[in-house]
Amino acid sequence: MATLNEIAREMVSNRRGILAADESIGTMSSRLESVGVAASDENRRVYRELIVTTPQLVDSISGVILADDTTRQKLSDGRTFPQALQDMGMLAGIKVDTGAKPLAGSPDEKVTEGLDGLRERVAEYVSLGSTFAKWRAVITIGDGIPTERAVRANVHALARYAGLCQEGGLVPIVEPEVLMDGSHSLAQCQQVTRAVLRVLFDELDLMKVRLDGMVLKPNMVVAGKNCPEQPGVDLVAQTTVDTLRDTVPAEVPGIAFLSGGQSPELATRHLGAMQNCGDLPWELTYSFGRALVGPALETWRGDSAKWADAQQALSVRAVANAAAR
Ligand code: 13P
Repeated sequence: MATLNEIAREMVSNRRGILAADESIGTMSSRLESVGVAASDENRRVYRELIVTTPQLVDSISGVILADDTTRQKLSDGRTFPQALQDMGMLAGIKVDTGAKPLAGSPDEKVTEGLDGLRERVAEYVSLGSTFAKWRAVITIGDGIPTERAVRANVHALARYAGLCQEGGLVPIVEPEVLMDGSHSLAQCQQVTRAVLRVLFDELDLMKVRLDGMVLKPNMVVAGKNCPEQPGVDLVAQTTVDTLRDTVPAEVPGIAFLSGGQSPELATRHLGAMQNCGDLPWELTYSFGRALVGPALETWRGDSAKWADAQQALSVRAVANAAAR
């Protein structure tokens, strides 16, 4: 059996990245409806089948993060999604958080839930073929926020999740996402991202999480979507790398960025520019959701005649990101 460190290294090695196809039922339903496809179990299943059976996906994708419903569904050939991924040479991941809920005492902030019963759920997911997991915390920048209360509540949950995963044999993807929503500057994003990562690594240490058996999934350091001053690609890349160098210990095998609402092309350009920011102690890769699958969903729109074109649209993004690495 592969060790946690071996799995974590496989997730980020050979220029490959991790595909996030773990939208909750609610989010996936609205994405389907936005392209005119009825939200149903079957349509969610068919769409996920389109994604994972994209020819040669394995050349640029090491693993796919699935949601609970997909992990239990089957492809049309009868194999479960985790089994099919394994047959194609990719790892199956599982999103184990149950979503970000309003934080008591802070109406504009959220804390991610899902710790209750997690030990038992991890054991079940291992039996269903999952090898790694994901938990996403969201931090919002705004007037007077993030509060210390929200940051500490979120990193505490992330660290307890990571510890439970490692105990049960899953590699945790630890995802503290500082959101792009808002008009904050690049400097504000850097300051908040740095502060969150510092507290996160203190908490991971406290909970005895093995840093060589996890993957960090952070935001890139960018200006808020509504900030009038948008930094160029090289500045985003350098600021992101500087922030990570200040905060992420070298034992972490890899850092896999979320795309967070950036356009697919811009996320790829940022990733490429970071590879020119000097020697780094960890692998820097991608774990995009929207920036990988967005064009495929737009192309497919539920039309079976567009199946191959949609897979080609995903392939273009996956290959471009692998090349950017
Ligand atoms: P995006 O790349 O669309 O931000 O999604 C990544 C992810 O897994 C969010 O949890």
